[in-house]
Amino acid sequence: MKTQQLLIIISTLFILNGCSKDYSPSKKATGESMYQTACVQCHKKDEKGMIFTFDSEKANVGYISERVKTGSLMMPKFPNINDEQLSQLSDYVLKNSAVK
Ligand code: HEC
Repeated sequence: MKTQQLLIIISTLFILNGCSKDYSPSKKATGESMYQTACVQCHKKDEKGMIFTFDSEKANVGYISERVKTGSLMMPKFPNINDEQLSQLSDYVLKNSAVK
């Protein structure tokens, strides 16, 4: 393999790895503070104070937690938010979101 190809592969790995955030909430973090620290830069509230407008089948803590755990192509995953904090965060997001 040429050095150039190797360099391309290595830099691609770095870029992909950048999609996983190492945000670790402090023990005192609340749903709101986690949202403000880790989510608001991509998910701002609208003029009515709503973060998302969910389809009804997605308007639950389970769906939101899953999204935060697994991330996506466009969204980083947050493996360091523990289950208890994840449910607080998801609860906060749900309470501040509309349902279609
Ligand atoms: C770097 C930007 C970014 C950050 C930071 C981010 N997200 Fe996302 N998120 C996205 C994008 C882009 C989408 C929509 C596209 C997709 O599903 O991949 C999304 C989708 C979602 C969805 C699914 C919405 C729906 O209607 O199905 C939820 C829930 C969500 N994010 C929650 C969160 C939470 C909670 C946090 C903070 C822990 C967070 N996101 C942090 C970019 C981000």
